[in-house]
Amino acid sequence: MTYSNPQATMPLVPEGRAIADPVMVCESNDAFLAGLSSGSMKLIVTSPPYNIGKEYEARSPLEIYLAEQATVIAECVRLLDPRGSLCWQVGNYVDKGEVVPLDAMLYPEFKRHGLKLRNRIVWHFGHGLHCSRRLSGRYETINWFTRGDDYTFHLDPIRVPSKYPGKRHFKGPNAGKLSGNPKGKNPTDVWEFPNVKNNHVEKTDHPCQFPVELVERLVLSMTDPGDAVLDPYMGVGSTIIAALMHGRCAYGCDIVPEYVETAWDRVRALQSGVLRTRPMGKPVYDPTKPNGGH
Ligand SMILES: C[S@@+](CC[C@H](N)C(=O)[O-])C[C@H]1O[C@@H](n2cnc3c(N)ncnc32)[C@H](O)[C@@H]1O
Repeated sequence: MTYSNPQATMPLVPEGRAIADPVMVCESNDAFLAGLSSGSMKLIVTSPPYNIGKEYEARSPLEIYLAEQATVIAECVRLLDPRGSLCWQVGNYVDKGEVVPLDAMLYPEFKRHGLKLRNRIVWHFGHGLHCSRRLSGRYETINWFTRGDDYTFHLDPIRVPSKYPGKRHFKGPNAGKLSGNPKGKNPTDVWEFPNVKNNHVEKTDHPCQFPVELVERLVLSMTDPGDAVLDPYMGVGSTIIAALMHGRCAYGCDIVPEYVETAWDRVRALQSGVLRTRPMGKPVYDPTKPNGGH
């Protein structure tokens, strides 16, 4: 099947206006991606299965897992716009207590296609399994690659609050002027916000959703309104939600019908203004502050 680009029919959607329908299909990504046009995706962001035996994945020998990933990566490269970005979000595969860093294992595959790594973003979160024979894992990574050196990147929409917002130069030619950017600080490659556990507002029946905020930062910095965003392992549609929230076109597929149904429920809730997401930039709960600092 061939999927048409809804960009042609979709008006640019500023925040707060009608939200367009995404293309979301229950099928394997090899079939779904084959129906999309080469060079049509400005941003591809995904969190593939980590081969750790979650309910939606069969655990395979590492070589087979990497070979399957190589096939999907090759298709994603075909679909990527010349100014586009590809963000692969993974954790660690653990085999009998031995940690295998999946982003490092997959890196040569992206390089083989000539992609360039712009950041290895470390996403730090506070909760997870407690390990007794090694340190407890509290981060995953997002490897951000671009197709070329001329790529879309906007810092302003993802700036973070300055430490000293009103600070001014006290001498020299700029005395009295603000010393920092009034729009905020440049964000770093270490991001901290909670993972989606049971008490998270975005929690669904999916065992490992990523937070919408993670994708919002990528969408806002790496695309323009109306651009197309794809998730080839979309789960319950967190990428789709982030893209639609900011007026981008969204495409995704998953092989589990219940996840695709939940993704549609979330899209409908977003369209009717009742979807709850953790706001981008909300400070992390701090037990030492009143009300956790919120
Ligand atoms: C880590 S989860 C992604 C969760 C997603 N980021 C979210 O926030 O909901 C990986 C997903 O890949 C799906 N999946 C596994 N093999 C697939 C395939 N060949 N094609 C499409 N989806 C697949 C699984 O069903 C699972 O939902």
